[in-house]
Amino acid sequence: MRKTLFTLLGLLLLLGAAAPAVMAFTQTSLTYQKCTSCHAVVKGKISRVEEIRTTPDEWGVIIDRMARLHGMDLNPQERDLLLKEICATQILSPEELAKVWYMDLYNNPQVVERPQGEVEEKRFATCVRCHSAGKINSYRMTESSWAKVRDFHYYVDPAIDGQMREMKWEQEATTVLAQLAKSHPYGKAWQTPNVTPAGSWLIFGNEPGKGNYRGSATLKADFSGNFSVKGSLNFDDGTSEQFQGEALLFGGHALRTRTAHNNFKTLGSFAFSNGTIQGQHHYPAPAFRTSTSTWYPAVGSARLLRVTPAYLLANETTSLTLEGVNLPAVQASDLVFKGAKVKVLKAERVGEAIVAEVVYQGSGKAQADLQVNKLNSVPITLADRIDHIKITPELGRARVHGGVHFPAEGVQFEAIAYAAGDVALGAVAAGFTLSEEVTRENDDDLAWTGAIGANGFYYPMGDYGQILTRESKLEATGLVKVHAAYQRGGYDYAAEAMLAVVPPDYVQRIK
Ligand code: HEC
Ligand code: HEC
Repeated sequence: MRKTLFTLLGLLLLLGAAAPAVMAFTQTSLTYQKCTSCHAVVKGKISRVEEIRTTPDEWGVIIDRMARLHGMDLNPQERDLLLKEICATQILSPEELAKVWYMDLYNNPQVVERPQGEVEEKRFATCVRCHSAGKINSYRMTESSWAKVRDFHYYVDPAIDGQMREMKWEQEATTVLAQLAKSHPYGKAWQTPNVTPAGSWLIFGNEPGKGNYRGSATLKADFSGNFSVKGSLNFDDGTSEQFQGEALLFGGHALRTRTAHNNFKTLGSFAFSNGTIQGQHHYPAPAFRTSTSTWYPAVGSARLLRVTPAYLLANETTSLTLEGVNLPAVQASDLVFKGAKVKVLKAERVGEAIVAEVVYQGSGKAQADLQVNKLNSVPITLADRIDHIKITPELGRARVHGGVHFPAEGVQFEAIAYAAGDVALGAVAAGFTLSEEVTRENDDDLAWTGAIGANGFYYPMGDYGQILTRESKLEATGLVKVHAAYQRGGYDYAAEAMLAVVPPDYVQRIK
């Protein structure tokens, strides 16, 4: 057995040696060493591996399967290195990756996927049952690779015909996969640009339920080609966080972080392109906070990067905070709003920021550009007043606690203000409450789901255990209504959403 394996390996190596000079994976690469014992090298390319481009996260799923089901050796250090090597050529482009950004997040994802048009409706019916559409959209493959996905499914799930019994799945899948070969073609291998995120960064972020923050971080390349990260964040509510950990860069644009913030572990997924880093980091269950930020180079010429709030309402005196790099000392006349009638009452530097008092004296919806001295301008939205508010997510999903391996999962709701015509203005500090959504006689869900924090954070209190005193045998789960209330300029605003508190996800999740 051993001997045949070596002969086979030798044959594969020979094939590889006879190949054209340009190879994505040299014979000394870890990928070549790990994969070619089973995957033949054909014309200098490792079969299957070089016929697929996908995200670092889906490559993780694939190589974990090679270890789990096919017995490939894999330790954590090798895993990181393999993923980096493979992604150097087999990753999606930044534009392709941006469309499936929600797939590489580690939070309790609240994204609802909806099919657009007939082709997608058909694809959703045939494919989006056991996993997300995002999983499929994460792949670009050659025509023959897409075609193999059908039989791959018969292998990973031999019961598929029975599970999909309302259709002839084999036929439907063949049709869908032929379409995918056209809409999601392999194209060509990715070429990793020669860029590095090493350096000092200025961070501007927002954490729903907690508010805006500003911070800084330093990324340093280490001996293994990974990066160490260290930084701090200062929140508008006066709290602060120190963080440190490591970052890995895939294909020169997909940055993944593993950091501890004040000793709480987080996982981050960021896009590094055009010289900025943009993305999210998450506190895993049970905290389940999501934090979105943009990182700008901390050095360089003076420039304006963020204005908060990013909207003004007519005849309301607003205190604006302008942040950026090396902002100058200013007076009121240095701030100019191009394209709208905005009066600047006062402006001064406070710390590193500029704080200004301004009034929008015009009327109607408009977009203006705010410029400070001769610096770059930032857009600002103008409106007569807030027209309505909406809650995101529309349907929040929380999970009750199900034992040490299945911690509870909370949901952060947020109220977003809109101007007439559904123009989003920004998050507002609404107050949140819950009420019963009556779906049956003696509906008692609210009594068991507990309360929501005034800032919109819901955390399930119940355990997924028997509740002998609850007649409906629903443990601590249920469906309730979420209300947000907000007042501004003499107007009352209200919005509703739903909250589903569901059992723990005991089945290992396929994204
Ligand atoms: C021990 C044998 C073995 C090794 C080693 C191995 N593979 Fe595989 N690989 C398989 C088999 C069997 C399949 C087909 C079944 C499957 O997809 O799980 C496969 C399928 C694949 C596919 C196709 C998946 C799809 O969606 O169609 C990819 C990509 C892949 N392997 C990548 C790799 C990479 C990368 C490595 C090296 C890090 C590797 N494999 C190492 C046995 C192996
Ligand atoms: C009955 C459940 C089921 C249905 C229906 C289904 N899939 Fe899957 N699919 C799976 C499972 C399970 C995996 C993951 C296997 C693993 O990684 O261990 C998977 C993985 C995949 C992958 C990743 C391949 C890889 O190498 O990991 C793609 C792409 C995919 N499916 C596409 C499709 C498409 C396209 C359809 C419709 C034609 C479809 N799936 C329908 C269960 C399903």
